[in-house]
Amino acid sequence: MYQACEACHSIDDNDLGPRHRGVVGRPAGSIADYAYSKALKSSGLAWDEATLDRWQINPSALVPGTKMFFQLSAAQDRADIIAYLQLQK
Ligand code: HEC
Repeated sequence: MYQACEACHSIDDNDLGPRHRGVVGRPAGSIADYAYSKALKSSGLAWDEATLDRWQINPSALVPGTKMFFQLSAAQDRADIIAYLQLQK
């Protein structure tokens, strides 16, 4: 499932989106060498299972003004991706 995210992300390199290694537990918008939207940078969120689930349902609903436009409607797909991200410490 993570291949869907790889259109814009990778684990170790910034791409269209920020790199994902260590994302679970880190504050949103906190990679120093990636140009986040102001909206995400100032969101005050931290990435845990709950916020990552809501983010994948609809990033713009969680953080209005974000520049990530991608949605996963299947709950099992979102859960599988979160489990995978938790392993990328
Ligand atoms: C079409 C491109 C695209 C796709 C596909 C995409 N993303 Fe993103 N993602 C982005 C962009 C762009 C940002 C930066 C958003 C911002 O700065 O507002 C982002 C940011 C994120 C962040 C915030 C990370 C941080 O450091 O705060 C997470 C988490 C994330 N994406 C997860 C995912 C997951 C999981 C998937 C696959 C289900 C995915 N993304 C698919 C473009 C994408």
